[in-house]
Amino acid sequence: MFQQFERLPPDSILGLMAQYRADAAPLKVDLGVGVYRDATGATPVLECVRQAEGLLLAEQTTKAYVAPAGRAEFNEAVEALVLGPDHPVRRERRARTVQAPGGCGALRLGAELIHLAAPAATVHVSDPTWGNHVPLLGGCGLRLDRYPYYEAAARRVRFDAMLERLDRASQGDVVLLHACCHNPTGADLPPAQWDQVIELLERRRLVPYLDLAYQGFGVDLERDAHGVRRVLARLPEALVAISFSKNLGLYRERVGALIVVSESPDRAEAVNSHVLKIARGIYSMPPDHGAAVAARVLTDAKLKAGWLTELEAMRVRIASMRTLLAAELRTATGGAGFDFIAGQHGMFSLLGITGEAVARLRERHHIYMTADSRVNLAGITPENARYVAAAVAAEHSGSA
Ligand SMILES: Cc1ncc(COP(=O)(O)O)c(C=O)c1O
Repeated sequence: MFQQFERLPPDSILGLMAQYRADAAPLKVDLGVGVYRDATGATPVLECVRQAEGLLLAEQTTKAYVAPAGRAEFNEAVEALVLGPDHPVRRERRARTVQAPGGCGALRLGAELIHLAAPAATVHVSDPTWGNHVPLLGGCGLRLDRYPYYEAAARRVRFDAMLERLDRASQGDVVLLHACCHNPTGADLPPAQWDQVIELLERRRLVPYLDLAYQGFGVDLERDAHGVRRVLARLPEALVAISFSKNLGLYRERVGALIVVSESPDRAEAVNSHVLKIARGIYSMPPDHGAAVAARVLTDAKLKAGWLTELEAMRVRIASMRTLLAAELRTATGGAGFDFIAGQHGMFSLLGITGEAVARLRERHHIYMTADSRVNLAGITPENARYVAAAVAAEHSGSA
């Protein structure tokens, strides 16, 4: 059976992590893997999570199964966090939320639902997009296509080209939108452009699929959900995949959720039964621990206040590293070519340098980033920013 298999090349990000670990240089910088890091390079357990875990440990009386939908109080708290307590789709009972194993699990669950409902639909993803969107959405048999989104060399969103391409999508196709903190570009749409996208989705009868993996990492919890809330207020059907890996630092606990919006409460109930059947057929029930922690933090006023402070500290650190790196690059290059980094959102920006320059940064300077020149700004510290800027300036001009 397995004779047909040749060994695959390593996953590009996991391969990069292994290379970084094996690099014995005393000064090396990891801007590759997408996790938050503090100024010491650590990815700490949040204090609110530690406290919630303590409470759960003391109170938990059983490890019996939860349910394919996960914890009801988690799903309720997530819906309120993402949509706001008073969103019309909640009042109209058109949204159903299920817990999922991380944002990836939610994305796949939603993709399976789309494939079941409309196997011939195409899912349009941004060019560029997060690499794992392709296997997560395409792996269940859905056809993927790309719409222009960002021009790395010019450092700008190709908004007109995006609209022009989506205007040619077929009715019933799905459009994957990054809700905030676009990965890998860091370039988000301003509210007026969201409205133009919504108008197009409505007019062309396209189904939005929103990926919300960084709520609270961009501007704040409310404004990072602006796009999701506006889209859901206007479109009859939509999906939202949510991750708590970054904003609660729960990466390995696999905490996510899928919200599916349907045109009526009855339809929402019917759709939900299919979502649960799909979940039952893949992983049966989501893992509980991380979602129990998240539910506790979201519903306990004191823990939630602590979380908001910690979340703000993460966001402010990333934003200040954006400002610092942009300033150092201005000094190192003698120009404003990298100023764009300071104004973008979330953990990532694309430097817009060549793959050869990325390789030289790795080989000569021990600075690691993905081949598309995506950098994780959380890997920058006050100590390494000047070093990184000088190296980028040297290798970028070397390839120009
Ligand atoms: C854009 C995007 N969506 C979804 C995810 C899913 O995250 P997880 O499955 O770790 O919760 C990530 C994680 O890096 C991401 O960057």
